Amino acid sequence: MRYIRFGSSEQPVSVIGAGSMRIAGMDEQAADTFMKTAMDSGINFFDHADIYGGGKSEEVLGRFLAANPGIREKIFIQSKCGIRQGFFDFSEEYIVKSVEGILGRLQTDHLDSLLLHRPDALMEPEEVASAFDKLYKEGKVRNFGVSNMNPMQMELLKTKVTYPLVCNQVQMSVAHTPMLDAGFNVNMGIDAGINRDGSVLEYCRINDMVVQTWSPLQVGYFTGTFLNNENYSDLNRELAALADKYEVGADTIAYAWLLRYPARMQVITGTTSPDHLRSAAAAGDVVLSREEWYALYRAAGNRLP
Ligand SMILES: NC(=O)c1ccc[n+]([C@@H]2O[C@H](COP(=O)([O-])OP(=O)(O)OC[C@H]3O[C@@H](n4cnc5c(N)ncnc54)[C@H](OP(=O)(O)O)[C@@H]3O)[C@@H](O)[C@H]2O)c1
Repeated sequence: MRYIRFGSSEQPVSVIGAGSMRIAGMDEQAADTFMKTAMDSGINFFDHADIYGGGKSEEVLGRFLAANPGIREKIFIQSKCGIRQGFFDFSEEYIVKSVEGILGRLQTDHLDSLLLHRPDALMEPEEVASAFDKLYKEGKVRNFGVSNMNPMQMELLKTKVTYPLVCNQVQMSVAHTPMLDAGFNVNMGIDAGINRDGSVLEYCRINDMVVQTWSPLQVGYFTGTFLNNENYSDLNRELAALADKYEVGADTIAYAWLLRYPARMQVITGTTSPDHLRSAAAAGDVVLSREEWYALYRAAGNRLP
């Protein structure tokens, strides 16, 4: 496993983070196995959101922490807020209230990181700044970041928010690469050349932000994984060949592909299976060559100009 610096945290965080969107239904035994498998594999980063399972995902971790005193200090917990039923809400009142709910469900007194989940067009940077200030000064949140934001939205927040935005969590997999495609096809009159996100990857690199990739195995927006997917036979062949070479699983190679991008990368997995989690953790020890990285990009159906 490799570890990276994350904001003000003295504890380095694992480049593989365990996502919690799908763990809401876990009973105590399953949660215990999931958490212990993650930690035994070197994963110390756990990604949550107030909306996962309507709060139930955070409760699963909260019960584990209550039953296992001493673990909290060893792990890094991130959660997110801002998505409500039918709208987005970055008001000061909602952010503060949401964090109080998160801490209660997690049975902890602080979050290591809080992300604003999806851009709220009605956001007032002053309100976000004021919420962050209150949460930081009360010791409830140690680092702040965003998710699914483009550079100008982050710049807008930074007109008032004085705490560094240390992370941006965005959708990216070898089969979902619009953020890269636009960079390869600058000024070309094809769909892949459309810059939809304002060069967000480059912005994160310039600002030394952690880039967290969500849905690392998905084709589109929750439409299923590309692993063993007949529409991605070239990609699966290439993944299998590299899996043989590195003596790991094809899924491990797919995560290693994301980690090879030279930002401060972190992959947020969605698996609930202990075996798949171990496979993901193994990606922290695989570094693909430039040729291998490009071969996978092409095998996913992309053309280089
Ligand atoms: N910021 C945002 O807006 C946002 C949005 C969505 C998600 N997220 C975060 O990102 C995390 C990951 O998202 P995701 O769940 O969509 O990611 P994902 O890892 O791409 O997809 C998870 C799915 O892939 C399956 N899978 C994993 N390994 C597999 C393997 N080796 N073979 C076959 N199937 C496999 C899992 O099933 P098994 O459980 O059986 O392994 C699960 O159904 C979430 O938990 C959440 O923390 C953030």
